[in-house]
Amino acid sequence: MSLDLGVLISGRGSNLGAILDAIGDGRLDARVRLVVSNRADAGGLDRAARAGVPTRVLSHRDHADRPSYDAALVAALREAGAHFVALAGFMRLLGPTFLDAFPHRVLNIHPSLLPAFPGVDAQAQALAYGSRVTGCTVHLVDAGTDTGPIVAQAAVPILPGDDHDALAARVLAREHDLLVRALEWFAEGRVEVTPAADPGGRARVVVRGAHTWFGLAGGVD
Ligand code: GAR
Repeated sequence: MSLDLGVLISGRGSNLGAILDAIGDGRLDARVRLVVSNRADAGGLDRAARAGVPTRVLSHRDHADRPSYDAALVAALREAGAHFVALAGFMRLLGPTFLDAFPHRVLNIHPSLLPAFPGVDAQAQALAYGSRVTGCTVHLVDAGTDTGPIVAQAAVPILPGDDHDALAARVLAREHDLLVRALEWFAEGRVEVTPAADPGGRARVVVRGAHTWFGLAGGVD
């Protein structure tokens, strides 16, 4: 089953680039139907245009509240024929108006091992905390901030002397691989979502026949 993807971005768009590269070289059976940015200056818009992918800028500032902004996003994605959504560095929260339109079909990449360091600048949070290991998480999006059911995680070491940029670059390299792999699993129909058993419980994701965690490449020093 080929994925009809909508990709939401706010910035550079390197994860979007990884998706487009994977489609281009035949690894990922998908088409990006639309890239939406909430910022007109997002570098990812150029990356999409170079790949011949339609783009839209929809600013939250042009909408009175979250439901009306979410409705505009849904309308744009539906019009473009997108049935599955990847958040690739999209820095806005999505509410029920959006999530109910794509049930269990909104995937986010986050630069930490959730539930550690949700929200903004997870790499800075990990450095400030003094963590020795961080990583990245691909998860389905629910109503909370970075709280949805986990699909896959990869661990990344924090090395002595790391600054923000060094750590962010090391995490980003793993993000690209993890996000593409997760999308491949959805495209292959291997992902099963079990809704939460009781109110306040957590939904679970099972990926048939896949390795969904990736450990540290290095050893103990
Ligand atoms: C990535 O590190 C992504 O994980 C992060 O923004 C960056 C976007 O980079 N997303 C979040 O922090 C979401 N909470 P990119 O524009 O080069 O893909």
